[in-house]
Amino acid sequence: MKGKFITLEGGEGCGKSTQSKLLQAYLQAKGIETLLSKEPGGTPEGIVLRQLLVTGDKDKFDPITECLLYYADRRQHLTKLVWPAMNEGKWVISDRYADSTEAYQYYGYNKRIDYATLQNMYQIVAGDFKPDLTLILDMPPEVGMARSFAKAASMESKELRFESRQIDFHNNLRHGFLEIAKREPERCVVINADTDIETLHQRIVKVVEERLKP
Ligand code: TMP
Repeated sequence: MKGKFITLEGGEGCGKSTQSKLLQAYLQAKGIETLLSKEPGGTPEGIVLRQLLVTGDKDKFDPITECLLYYADRRQHLTKLVWPAMNEGKWVISDRYADSTEAYQYYGYNKRIDYATLQNMYQIVAGDFKPDLTLILDMPPEVGMARSFAKAASMESKELRFESRQIDFHNNLRHGFLEIAKREPERCVVINADTDIETLHQRIVKVVEERLKP
């Protein structure tokens, strides 16, 4: 594929959405056609799945059902949006991708599903396709959660299904993201996100310049 695929990952309130927009503006200013998207909810069908996934009782899904729904959203996202755009030479930035499933549904819930099941789902949905670069925005969960609750209150958002989990869950998923980065250093870069918006943007730009030379 001609384009590139950059994913931003991290726990609640780590600044991914703001930073994705800033990165898109940076790349566009360099003349690179860039598409900004997200999971779950990067397609019209995904928006419906997102509603199911991020609202309601925290224990409402069977663990495998929950993974399959994220993977259904992902398949739709890849086939309808990410791959066609990349084939046209566009760079796609996605606010979350498959590392979130591993961090939340596997590590977050203390490995309550089989790791091989998760890997099989990835194979079915994406085959050997991987992001060119994954930026893991890391910060203490307490800081991110406070930000996330403040944002949800100001927007009267009901998307708090995962925020309502105990701090252990968030510590586990942070550990999960760091494990993924250790396992795949050629794809993943951990960035300390416990700072202001502009400093974090500069940290991200430095990594993107070094790794992808846009
Ligand atoms: P967002 O608020 O960052 O857009 O993400 C929506 C929620 O979905 C967030 O709490 C993280 C969660 N999530 C998973 O649990 N697994 C996944 O695979 C993805 C993509 C998101």
